[in-house]
Amino acid sequence: MAADDASARWAAALEHHLDTLLPRAEATPQRLHAAMRHAVLGGGKRMRARLVYAAGTLLGADEDVLHAPAAAVELIHAYSLVHDDLPAMDDDDLRRGKPTVHVAFDEATAILAGDALHTLAFEHLASADAPAQLRVDWLATLAQASGAGGMCGGQALDIDATGTQQTLEQLQRMHALKTGALIRAAVRMGALAGNADAAALARLDTFATALGLAFQVRDDILDIEGSSEQLGKTAGKDVAQAKSTYPALLGMEGAKAKLEELARVMRDALAAYGADADALRALGELAIHRSH
Ligand code: IPE
Ligand code: IPE
Ligand code: MG
Ligand code: MG
Ligand code: MG
Repeated sequence: MAADDASARWAAALEHHLDTLLPRAEATPQRLHAAMRHAVLGGGKRMRARLVYAAGTLLGADEDVLHAPAAAVELIHAYSLVHDDLPAMDDDDLRRGKPTVHVAFDEATAILAGDALHTLAFEHLASADAPAQLRVDWLATLAQASGAGGMCGGQALDIDATGTQQTLEQLQRMHALKTGALIRAAVRMGALAGNADAAALARLDTFATALGLAFQVRDDILDIEGSSEQLGKTAGKDVAQAKSTYPALLGMEGAKAKLEELARVMRDALAAYGADADALRALGELAIHRSH
């Protein structure tokens, strides 16, 4: 099957899975549940979930086993966006073409919805229909990538760096944590479901590390070159808020050259695989060339 077809099928399966596992909007507390559903459903490229499916099926995992880690990583990602948009953080009012959760609901509900999505991710993984050791490995991988040594740590560095000039190493570390950690976790959770050996885990981690960095470099470029309509989120925020970004440090040409370099790293990392890795290769291309 063509990689594009598989990817579209995975996105549809994921949407159904997320819809089912989220609390019903009619159930009490309705406002919290509605906010959680607003944050998760009907939007987003589902890049991290697609990475779970692509890495997992490359290594022979059963597609049905991959729905739980795919959904869990998207729940963590959705929570991170709800909190990233809060007035105390990036103060954004547009996300995925809709009002952000604190605008559509209120700030307290947005904080709680993020908290509840965060814990739902782990509850869902813990109760997945998968061997106990695999569930523990997924839980440890996702927890490590989400916390102070991963996404939250990166968000803290982002806030600290706002208005300052970072070195290239500092910028790369911030990007690796705030965006890269969850992307690496997605690939690793898929690979673990396929019983990957140490060599395969290392190869795929090299790929995922490059993809994660490329994804945030592209995000920073799009913040300058894209429109709010195209992105579904407010364009021009990074310059307006004096964020530390690749284009700010290296210029637009330097940032684009970095993307080319990362594309090469991704290609080399997957060189050992044949057509089975085409879905992963397509996601690598998407990270580099995406327009939203
Ligand atoms: C946006 O992530 C935040 C970053 C880490 C750059 P995405 O661009 O994956 O957002 P959605 O899920 O498609 O909305
Ligand atoms: C967000 O980075 C990274 C997260 C962990 C959510 P950005 O602040 O650049 O993401 P956008 O541009 O608001 O989507
Ligand atoms: Mg931010
Ligand atoms: Mg933001
Ligand atoms: Mg951004």
